[in-house]
Amino acid sequence: MNASAPSPDPAALYADHLATMMRRADEALARSGHDHLVVPSGTQHWQVFDDRDYPYAVNPQFKAWLPLTRLPYSWLVHTPGQRPRVVYYQPFDYWHVVPDAPNGWWTDHFDIHIIRKPEEALALLPQPAARCAILGEPQSALGDHVPNNPEPALLYLEYQRSCKTPYEIAMMRQAQRMAVRGHRAAEAAFRAGHSEFGIHMAYCAAVGQDAGELPYGNIVGLNEHAAVLHYTELQRAAPNPLRSFLIDAGASFHGYASDITRTYAHDTGSEFQAMIDAVDAAQQRMCQGVRAGVDYKQLHVDAHLALMGILKEFGVITVSPEAALATGVSFAFFPHGLGHPIGLQVHDVAGFAESDRGGRIPRPQGHPYLRMTRVLEPGMVVTIEPGLYFIDMLLDEVKQNGHAGSVDWARVDAFRPYGGIRIEDEVLCTEGEADNLTRPAFAEAQAAAA
Ligand code: GLY
Ligand code: MN
Ligand code: MN
Repeated sequence: MNASAPSPDPAALYADHLATMMRRADEALARSGHDHLVVPSGTQHWQVFDDRDYPYAVNPQFKAWLPLTRLPYSWLVHTPGQRPRVVYYQPFDYWHVVPDAPNGWWTDHFDIHIIRKPEEALALLPQPAARCAILGEPQSALGDHVPNNPEPALLYLEYQRSCKTPYEIAMMRQAQRMAVRGHRAAEAAFRAGHSEFGIHMAYCAAVGQDAGELPYGNIVGLNEHAAVLHYTELQRAAPNPLRSFLIDAGASFHGYASDITRTYAHDTGSEFQAMIDAVDAAQQRMCQGVRAGVDYKQLHVDAHLALMGILKEFGVITVSPEAALATGVSFAFFPHGLGHPIGLQVHDVAGFAESDRGGRIPRPQGHPYLRMTRVLEPGMVVTIEPGLYFIDMLLDEVKQNGHAGSVDWARVDAFRPYGGIRIEDEVLCTEGEADNLTRPAFAEAQAAAA
């Protein structure tokens, strides 16, 4: 199935997803030696010396079971062999909008208990608390039910979560479609000369989400700002002249994230546009490398060589890609990892996990920001996000380290005003060819607009 197929009915996929979650929970409990899995959704957090709360962020272990991302003070309870229970907090409150009564396709599968006060959950949690594996943050403690986060259970669940169920893939495809709507609106706003803030607003309006719902803060950088990897300043005025635009922005759907980056040149006949095109073509080849049995670390190192090949072709470096990699010069131009696992969290868990019982696969030396060191398996979704940047701080280090001769500095000066390039898609590893989740969503949107 690809993004041009009709969206599947989540209800049809959810039952199997839940069955998988229950099987995994049974095994996690067997490993940790507990009788019940108990997962609080999390609580509100308050700003110090103030009565304002921080935006609520649901416990990912809770939303792994339920498409409920705005339901603090609620609980999921799983006991092997029993129907799972949801303790659903729906307060009486005339200050705020309270959560709707439970509704939708997930409700058929649970015993649901409504509570009006957080402490009412206590009577609905399994006893004794010592027999419960409770996965959550310390603030979720209720009576004796204090999150204990048993490591064998967490290691197992996080490792298993790397391989997505068909339900999860469907949610992630929808998160792609939503983000793509924003990306297309953002490009139009850039072409119309809007500021970073204006582009950000156009993005949010098109997606229908703002900071409270987006999976991470939008990165919207014009000109040199594209060189700041996590630039989130959002200038209110557009620079003059406009040269380039990098946008790294996603969307959330039922708790699942997308994470997409595109880079544009204002002058589409420019050399910078040609460099974008070269990175884009290389990125698509890298995406095809997402196959079962492939070591992600190798994809990352191969990406360095491919990107340095582009810089050589454009006359920015004077040495071979291999030499640039060996001396650390390539790190100055591509100073982050090729990508990361993604799913319920934009930087999803278990990227370094050696097994479901623990162990950590180290990063290759000289690559301190790589977030994924595992061998790919069917069902994993990873980002592929190569980039090339012109970052003064890192280029100064190249000079200090005695490698100034590896770089044509006049060419660096020519590209510096554009900041940098990043292209990022999500890719599903299958039994066969890579399944790029992002590109079909762009193609679908383009076809619909034609
Ligand atoms: N948006 C953050 C990242 O690409 O990892
Ligand atoms: Mn990103
Ligand atoms: Mn990413």
